[in-house]
Amino acid sequence: MILETITVGGGCRSYVVGCPGTSVGAVIDPEISAVERYKGIASRHGLTLRYCIDTHTHADHFSAARTIARALGAQVVMSHLSPAPFVDLRLDDGDMLLVGDLRLQAMATPGHTADSTCLIAHTSGGDHVFTGDTLLIGGTGRTDLPTGDPDKLYDSLFGRLLKLDPATQVHPAHEYKGREGTTIGEEIKTNPRLQKTDRAEFVAMMRALDIKAPTHLTEALRVNMSGAKSVAQLLGEAASSVPFMSMTELSARLAARQNDLIVLDVREREQFDAGHLPGAMFLPRGQLELRVNDAFPDPTVRIVAVCEFGKISTLAAATLRSLGYMHATALDGGMKAWREAGLAVEK
Ligand SMILES: [Fe+2]
Repeated sequence: MILETITVGGGCRSYVVGCPGTSVGAVIDPEISAVERYKGIASRHGLTLRYCIDTHTHADHFSAARTIARALGAQVVMSHLSPAPFVDLRLDDGDMLLVGDLRLQAMATPGHTADSTCLIAHTSGGDHVFTGDTLLIGGTGRTDLPTGDPDKLYDSLFGRLLKLDPATQVHPAHEYKGREGTTIGEEIKTNPRLQKTDRAEFVAMMRALDIKAPTHLTEALRVNMSGAKSVAQLLGEAASSVPFMSMTELSARLAARQNDLIVLDVREREQFDAGHLPGAMFLPRGQLELRVNDAFPDPTVRIVAVCEFGKISTLAAATLRSLGYMHATALDGGMKAWREAGLAVEK
């Protein structure tokens, strides 16, 4: 089995696995910022990724399963219990995926989330299990996030996962301390949470954990459950669809007084009144679409959108481009940077 471990953002682990004989591969728990890395690793091994598997609905990072699957013509794979509408292939307990000659068998292990699924691979080099957040090195997934259930986690661990061959290599979806690997037997012996073998004690321990919520909890759940965009993706797409103008360039053009472009300030009224670029036109982002026809009868006019930090102006320029204003651009930076650079401001 080809097996590559990819660590993203300090603690999220994902895996590229593959069959060397058939060049078929799969990615497990991919994260959005590492899309090009997975593709690069797959091509380094000559693998075609056929499956993009999420072991569960992640609450702490943005899944790349759909992005990669759509780019490569692969299938998004998750449990039948996943709420995500874009899953191509839904697994029941015991179902098996054929990754070339490699077999990945699903074991439903609810607890961290209702849709948590582990994947077991029997290979000539020994057994492996991809545990998602059901079992971590020296820990377990939390059970206090949506659909978590400590009772079910107890059953999934003690009733199922820990009954695998003790030599089975464990590959979790998180590892924050950089530890390389572990086995089922090693975890049974040393994992502090697994020492609570009594159900009531285990459940009480899980309920008593006081872990702070993941940084992007609501946004990650929204994105992973719907397949829609994160705010960062939305901004990234807008930024790649428009050209920008540097502060130096715009400043020089304004000083030359050629009157060949419109500086469009898309902030709110108070911000505009407190100081704007010389000659800037005021049209807040919220009213842009409804007022463009009157504001800009000529679609060939050159417009430079400006806001406070350079993000809303990027969205505004992208909107203008999509409406046919083919010379719309955004200032690279915002009024904050403009003021800090000591450039001309008028009130
Ligand atoms: Fe998780």
